[in-house]
Amino acid sequence: MIRYAFPDGFFWGTAVSSHQVEGNNTNNDWWEFEIQGKVKNKEISGNACDHWNKYEEDFEIIKEMKNNAFRFSIEWSRIEPGLGIFDGPSIEHYKKMLLSLREKDIEPFVTLHHFTNPIWIAREGGWLNKKTIDYFSKYVERIVKEYKDLVRYWITINEPNAYAFVSYLMRMFPPQEKSLSKMITVLNNMVKAHARAYEIIHEVIPNAMVSIAYNFMIFDPINSSSFFDKKIQNFLDRLYNLIFLETILTGRFSAPFKKEDIPYAKDTIDYLGINYYTRLYVGFDIKAFPFFVKLYVPEKVEKSDFGWEIYPEGFYRVVKRFWEMIGKPIIITENGISDAKDEKRPKYLLSHLIELHRAIQEGVKVLGYLHWSLLDNFEWAEGFSQRFGLIEVDFKTQERKWRNSGKIYKIISENNEISDEIIEKYLK
Ligand code: GCO
Repeated sequence: MIRYAFPDGFFWGTAVSSHQVEGNNTNNDWWEFEIQGKVKNKEISGNACDHWNKYEEDFEIIKEMKNNAFRFSIEWSRIEPGLGIFDGPSIEHYKKMLLSLREKDIEPFVTLHHFTNPIWIAREGGWLNKKTIDYFSKYVERIVKEYKDLVRYWITINEPNAYAFVSYLMRMFPPQEKSLSKMITVLNNMVKAHARAYEIIHEVIPNAMVSIAYNFMIFDPINSSSFFDKKIQNFLDRLYNLIFLETILTGRFSAPFKKEDIPYAKDTIDYLGINYYTRLYVGFDIKAFPFFVKLYVPEKVEKSDFGWEIYPEGFYRVVKRFWEMIGKPIIITENGISDAKDEKRPKYLLSHLIELHRAIQEGVKVLGYLHWSLLDNFEWAEGFSQRFGLIEVDFKTQERKWRNSGKIYKIISENNEISDEIIEKYLK
């Protein structure tokens, strides 16, 4: 008896981003940040996974994993190292990667912006500067014209909400700002950049499938009968989960400090890319000036190495909620766990897929699942300490080693279902 079969043609894959795996992206704002010693243990991305040179080997792994999809990002700082200066060899390099994926029948999902900015963009004020919308559009236009015959699935911007949040409000990522109004400005500029990119891509590739990869967080109130905790929940849910998406739904940007009609942003996704990891409990804290927000993960819940709660049901909640809100097919563009010993990942993977399957059974149209990540990689401010790979990487030797969960994922992907046997073995 097969209890968990997935729809025909379902995409099974993994996801990575350029700066986290390629190595030697010396021309972006992250590299600068790293060499200033801002990353945990003063690590720098350095050679990362040396994926720039080892992509062919990595694509062989993907093939061996029986995946039919792969998500990666194009590094803007390589393509356009200075304003209007496009780098031929880098453009060729990604073309070779795309051709190699196509030869292997692996559908590429290409992200155009995944957290990093060329240094020249950062110098001009990054995403606070509305000229970045034009700069981004020119880069997108070039890329799309170059790869139009090779790519159908595009992701304009990875997690605009998370990016704005951690870079402009939480001081965790460059440029380490702490300003709600700047965060809102960045979101506003990014939604416009996305909308322009959507249009550009469709002009060149009429049947393209374009989206964002959006990070959805479950915020539950610490005390569900507290009026103030629920107020905070609502505030964060709007700020983080809703403002950007609502603009795409309605053409109106509505945030604290800023309301604006952006009619051209309406209906600018063809599917919804969902990144889901965890839940946060939130509440009101009088001491937490100026926003009075307390973020909390209970002691007793099961957690990843990162300290994130493992909450599979949240995956179902997110998928259902945003299917109902947006009504576009869904592709899971990220879902995964930091777990160096691979003790929790098999169960994380299975329990999340089962929740996804539940949503599919109830009528949600889901086209695919891309696990974060193929390889252990450079986890931003955490350096190499958090390990998300189905494949383990030894960063000294660059040796790749299959984790057990990678082998499980291969079986699921090959059969397009989760068998009773696997459930019996890893979920009980
Ligand atoms: C993300 C990021 C990834 C992270 C992953 C784990 O889009 O936040 O896309 O770069 O590595 O989410 O934190």
